[in-house]
Amino acid sequence: MRLKTIATPTPGDTEVLVRVHAASVNPLDWHFLRGKPYIMRILSGMGAPTEERIGADFAGTVQTVGARVTEFKVGDRVFGSRTGAFGTHVVVPEHGAMTRMPHSASFEQAAAIGVAATTALQAVRDQALVRKGQRVLINGASGGVGTFAVQIAKIYGAHVTGVASTRNVDMVQGIGADRVIDYTKDDFTKGAERYDAIIDMVGNHELRALDAVLAPGGRMIIVGGPNDNAYLGPLTRSAAAILAAPVLKATFITFTANENQADLVMLRDWMQRGTLRSVIDREYAFAELPAAVTYQEAGRSRGKVIVKMP
Ligand SMILES: NC(=O)c1ccc[n+]([C@@H]2O[C@H](COP(=O)([O-])OP(=O)(O)OC[C@H]3O[C@@H](n4cnc5c(N)ncnc54)[C@H](OP(=O)(O)O)[C@@H]3O)[C@@H](O)[C@H]2O)c1
Repeated sequence: MRLKTIATPTPGDTEVLVRVHAASVNPLDWHFLRGKPYIMRILSGMGAPTEERIGADFAGTVQTVGARVTEFKVGDRVFGSRTGAFGTHVVVPEHGAMTRMPHSASFEQAAAIGVAATTALQAVRDQALVRKGQRVLINGASGGVGTFAVQIAKIYGAHVTGVASTRNVDMVQGIGADRVIDYTKDDFTKGAERYDAIIDMVGNHELRALDAVLAPGGRMIIVGGPNDNAYLGPLTRSAAAILAAPVLKATFITFTANENQADLVMLRDWMQRGTLRSVIDREYAFAELPAAVTYQEAGRSRGKVIVKMP
């Protein structure tokens, strides 16, 4: 990773130039940085990345608007997802993955939302199809996606079980989980409880073991998984689920989140009402960006890792 000064981009007629004040780090940043798993190079570039700028999630202030932009004006506080978020400026299409910030939120809290909260929302609402009264388990409840998934499953009326390690039990309870299983002491796949949906960010259990604790008609959502296969990464698990489908009783689903404006508006409104909040683990200065990415990559973050722009 190298800091480079480039010309400030000029927005087109339907685009907005944002001065970034804070960004957040996601696993996709270091996947992109390393070009691993190799399968992603089909999209990101075979030998070297076709796009040199990294970073996905930002919050900042609108600095310039294109001639035909009606939705945003100079000075608006905005947040969202756009490649190149680890920089002082991003250009975002007017109807791209960006909206106005929650009134009460700081730039750091808003920068935390982007990919992680959108993934959590789409996992809960569109993939797990969570309804009131259902029992939902979130594996990896203390991470970037998990902290949002616990809160969003509660918003949809579920009884939520979070899985976390001892040091994170209180935090996961604090964001609304009805029950927290400490994975250093108990294995949820060996318990008597049955779940209508499991949202899995970790991928540390056999598919058959997960199938066994899903209720009839249950849904198993594979969001993330181990990175031990250099070629396919977490996709090995998805491939295994497809092959095992005939012998599994639950529906196993792998999905990739799609960042969009409508979902950011929904998340923003929940934050404004106080039903959703960002959990922030650490904040780094822009000059410490490599350390921020290294920390995220270690896989121990409690919520989100933030980078503050100069
Ligand atoms: N499908 C998509 O569109 C999509 C989008 C975003 C992310 N993802 C993927 O989703 C996964 C999670 O992303 P993230 O941003 O939430 O990651 P993250 O913030 O790095 O997750 C770290 C958290 O995972 C917890 N954890 C580690 N091992 C665990 C275990 N055995 N059981 C329960 N929790 C455990 C850690 O807690 P401890 O330190 O206490 O163990 C830590 O709090 C990644 O694989 C990422 O690539 C997929």
